[in-house]
Amino acid sequence: MTEMCASPAVAPDDAALAHLLAPIRARAMACTACSLHASRTQVVFGTGSARSGLLIIGEAPGATEDATGLPFVGRSGKLLSQFLGGIGLAREDVFIANVLKCRPPANRAPKPEEARACAPLLSAQIEALRPRIILALGLSAARWLIPGKAPMSVLRQGEHSYLGTRTLVTFHPAAILRNPNNRGEAEADFARLAKLLGR
Ligand code: URA
Repeated sequence: MTEMCASPAVAPDDAALAHLLAPIRARAMACTACSLHASRTQVVFGTGSARSGLLIIGEAPGATEDATGLPFVGRSGKLLSQFLGGIGLAREDVFIANVLKCRPPANRAPKPEEARACAPLLSAQIEALRPRIILALGLSAARWLIPGKAPMSVLRQGEHSYLGTRTLVTFHPAAILRNPNNRGEAEADFARLAKLLGR
């Protein structure tokens, strides 16, 4: 895990955020730091606003995201929007990004060298967004952000720190689509998140 300089707690408004993200976006669009650049259709940079103070981080783009250039637009994204709606947030109120900006072929798990190559883009995004809370979706994303090998049950209970930002972990929406029994627990995680955001 890399350390980052402490940042003021004030999140930029949408216009300021667009300005801050523009050079980072340009770096991402031109990035050839790992082999995934060769197979990507589009870079999935991330979208949204800093206004809620929440940054959501998933693992990596899938096929629909690679085709559209937008994160979480498939079935997982629909479920994510429902969880956000449950705590009074619209997708547009939060910023949604991934550990990797490019799709791994056949949706395989990110390789360590790919996550390492992408990490400077994510940390630059965090520096621009100044989120109050990061929510990591799924064990894979959490493993790249939080040191150690704690299981999901332990990660979900705790509070972590990524680059100095308070970080929570919940199930990946795709995991809930596969195992709907976890839906109640994910809703409880979002309720806890809402409290921490002061909602
Ligand atoms: N799963 C992820 O982790 N990220 C996406 O953008 C889509 C699905």
